[in-house]
Amino acid sequence: MEIKKIAVLGAGQMGNGIAHVCAQAGYEVSMRDIDQKFVDKGMATIKKNLERGLKKERITQEELDTTLGRITGVLDLKEAVKDADLVIEAIPEIVNLKLDTWREVDESAPEHAILASNTSSISITQMAAVTKRPEKFIGMHFFNPVPVMGLVEIIKGQATTDDTVKVIKEVSHKVGKKTVLVNEAPGFAVNRLLVPAINEAIFAIQEGVATVEDMDLAIKLGLNWPMGPLTLADFVGLDTLLYISDYFVDEFKDGKYRAPALLRKMVRAGWVGRKSGMGFYDYSGETPEPNRF
Ligand SMILES: NC(=O)c1ccc[n+]([C@@H]2O[C@H](COP(=O)([O-])OP(=O)(O)OC[C@H]3O[C@@H](n4cnc5c(N)ncnc54)[C@H](O)[C@@H]3O)[C@@H](O)[C@H]2O)c1
Repeated sequence: MEIKKIAVLGAGQMGNGIAHVCAQAGYEVSMRDIDQKFVDKGMATIKKNLERGLKKERITQEELDTTLGRITGVLDLKEAVKDADLVIEAIPEIVNLKLDTWREVDESAPEHAILASNTSSISITQMAAVTKRPEKFIGMHFFNPVPVMGLVEIIKGQATTDDTVKVIKEVSHKVGKKTVLVNEAPGFAVNRLLVPAINEAIFAIQEGVATVEDMDLAIKLGLNWPMGPLTLADFVGLDTLLYISDYFVDEFKDGKYRAPALLRKMVRAGWVGRKSGMGFYDYSGETPEPNRF
């Protein structure tokens, strides 16, 4: 099966990155969000990132123009998926929102279309089960920022066929990513380790073990991470981290995955990291300033 057209649901951090790499690899892309302002913001981010590539001479002006020309911003879900060969969903990590969206997509997408979720933790089998094509349903987990990070975790649900896995492997390779195949489990491989690690750093901040900047510096230099766990938390989005942690507790029935109270408090305050301008760091100035807790 040949994939030509890809519908990306969500134009946020992950959605616009996925639309970007798919268009750059030659796919026609429709990028759908629920409000024109989110579509515009996603398109502006793609343009900004492509322009950075042009400045660094990684792409030509012609490539920039063709890539942008392959992406259509859309508000209507039916319109977005009606002639898609592959639908990649990157909407918020809320189970019921994803289930409702997949029911709608299943009604409107062509019968042959493969459905892929970029979920960080939610069961592929649970989402596949609300569609009439569980064999064509799969997890396609990109990493943030998508144009930079080299991995896609491919997750097989209970009914996902090897043919579906094969197509998604090919698409992932075409967009320049290496793949690992993971059997379904909450958080798959990477987030199973990463989310408890970030939460532990937040517990330590909550207990006054170190300041935000010292904790980040300690892990960056002590463990050779490219960035500290609190900087990374702000990148991922504290809302997403909280959803994942709560989901882990529900699924594993194990309190070791619980979210720190500080994380919950920050999300309630609307401090969800970079995308809101405030998180463990304050992004309102020229350079991020660590907050005190
Ligand atoms: N942030 C990360 O580092 C990261 C990494 C891998 C996977 N993910 C996963 O990707 C998904 C999206 O995360 P994000 O960080 O891009 O979130 P985000 O908040 O940046 O973007 C989500 C976007 O989806 C839009 N949206 C909401 N409902 C929608 C709908 N019904 N149809 C279309 N768009 C809708 C929102 O308006 C928003 O623009 C989540 O499942 C998350 O777990 C996130």
